[in-house]
Amino acid sequence: MEDREIIARIINPYADRYVVDSIPERTLRSRNRIPAPARLSMRAEFAAACALRDRGMELARNIFEEKRDLFPRTELTAWAGEVTASLLRNRAALLSLCKLRCDDVYLLSHSVNTAVLSAAFAMHLGVREEFLPDFVAAGFLHDVGKLFVPEHILLYPGGLSPIQMEEMQAHVLKGQEFLRFWDNVSPIVLDGELDHHECHDGSGYPYGKSGKEISFTGRVLAVVDMYDAMSSPRGYRKQVTPYRALGCMYHEKDSHFAPGYPQAFIRLMGVYPPGSFVHLSDGSLAVVLEADSRAGLRPLVLRVLDSRGQSCAPEPLALGDMEHLEICGTLWKLPSRLRSDAEKLIAGIED
Ligand SMILES: [Fe+2]
Repeated sequence: MEDREIIARIINPYADRYVVDSIPERTLRSRNRIPAPARLSMRAEFAAACALRDRGMELARNIFEEKRDLFPRTELTAWAGEVTASLLRNRAALLSLCKLRCDDVYLLSHSVNTAVLSAAFAMHLGVREEFLPDFVAAGFLHDVGKLFVPEHILLYPGGLSPIQMEEMQAHVLKGQEFLRFWDNVSPIVLDGELDHHECHDGSGYPYGKSGKEISFTGRVLAVVDMYDAMSSPRGYRKQVTPYRALGCMYHEKDSHFAPGYPQAFIRLMGVYPPGSFVHLSDGSLAVVLEADSRAGLRPLVLRVLDSRGQSCAPEPLALGDMEHLEICGTLWKLPSRLRSDAEKLIAGIED
């Protein structure tokens, strides 16, 4: 390192850091609610959500598995717009699908889930409609730098050594380098990629930013990234239920996340997030479709098995309106058959 460079770093230690020309939070957010578009029937919305999820997985496969140099940005933009439209009409369909689908390759499903969850959380925080597709893209691309992490480290079935951990953490700066080759990348995408592992108390990486140094998109992404990572099956770690994941995140609310963000996310998802399986007080088993903003413990659910373990008719139950029925526990293990049964039942809901 030349003397001149050493002096430049002493004067400004951030001289060679990536800097994003972020959109100010006050521009991104509005107090006015986005007018809700006409709802489709749950059956139609769920069918649209299933098709969107399949397309999202295909896009993720294109970039992460085929490692295409020419990333299909036009398709991603169109997909992000359609995901936003589905979430605005009825977020229950895409949100419940995030936890019902159990795809084999974590990196692919995590990219799709984070895309959906980022836009849903941004919407909940009052982000203006025109920016929501960029939050979909930011969630989708937040781990794009993992393209450049050796596969044996990405798939390592255990705790990583300090050197391996460094290689893994390098995905953030490698991803930033990759995205900056593109023309007209939204600052929302750049912020989300760069800041999704930064922590409110400064203990994150790559730069150890803290508090307001972390971009708004980074704060949103940090929450949804951890939620999906904890509640997804991973080779080296036990999957926890969405309910448990929210509980763990709440414990870290003062260190890891921006103040109030985990609480806001819990308000969006409810105590029992969409796609969770819960035991009801009449002995039946149900899947959660959507949180009830009036009562976080009483979401909209769909019975999957009755008290004798028999299949049920696809009839949604708004527990907020049913005093005699309540949730008395969550299912800790999620057999894949139950998920696919629940998916078929949701697809058959008559409005
Ligand atoms: Fe990451």
